[in-house]
Amino acid sequence: MLEIRNLISGYGKLAIIQDVSFKVDEGDFVALVGPNGSGKSTLVKSILGLTNIFEGSITFQGTNITRWKPEKIAKMKLGYVPQLANVFPDLTVSENLELGGVTIRDEDQRRHLRDRVVELFPILKSRPRQRAGLLSGGERQMLAVGRALMAEPRLLILDEPTAALAPIVAEQLLQRLVEIREKMNVTIVLVEQNARKALSLANRGLVLVQGKSAFQGTPDQISQDKDIIRLFLGELAI
Ligand SMILES: Nc1ncnc2c1ncn2[C@@H]1O[C@H](COP(=O)(O)OP(=O)(O)O)[C@@H](O)[C@H]1O
Ligand SMILES: [Mg+2]
Repeated sequence: MLEIRNLISGYGKLAIIQDVSFKVDEGDFVALVGPNGSGKSTLVKSILGLTNIFEGSITFQGTNITRWKPEKIAKMKLGYVPQLANVFPDLTVSENLELGGVTIRDEDQRRHLRDRVVELFPILKSRPRQRAGLLSGGERQMLAVGRALMAEPRLLILDEPTAALAPIVAEQLLQRLVEIREKMNVTIVLVEQNARKALSLANRGLVLVQGKSAFQGTPDQISQDKDIIRLFLGELAI
């Protein structure tokens, strides 16, 4: 579904991602973890065309999208929930969802998608006319995910969607992601600060450290790797 090959990317002339290769297969739930500042957001932004790519390639569903403009990538079935500013605060819940679905031309299909999204997040159904800026943190993240789903992505990339949430709300949101993967057949890449939690949900993980792939494999392999525990998981153990 997604293949990153020997990627070197960053901002201006500065390379942040250093020779990362990684593959996401259809149906995967990938946990992308690593310390703060290790390049997780930069890697994700590289996939969306939001960084400078110096070397390497990115292929999505068999199409080489390396150095494509973000607006062109946005037309692919590739959903992205950014870390910040992921809803329009002045627009209502309903309007946010509507905008998420603009690329879906067929009105019936849009309505069908919308029904599925609000079924997944009932809070969105009960308050269609509420301004997004007035939602709680958890509700806002649910709207952000719902908005991304309105474009019917095959791959959904989420950058720390639980960052500002209370643990119980974070847990609810993560459970919805598991459901989205299973019921809507959407492949998931989740950037998450709680590495153990993310690895417990995922079937594959990528650990980034200082812009490099420090480890990739199954969650079991990662959580048993002594270097990774020492470097990273130990300090986050909960
Ligand atoms: N827009 C930017 N311009 C220059 N450097 C940036 C920019 N965004 C992030 N960085 C730098 O890239 C490195 C990785 O950051 P980031 O990808 O946000 O890490 P993470 O998401 O893992 O916390 C950090 O050193 C950060 O300072
Ligand atoms: Mg980040």
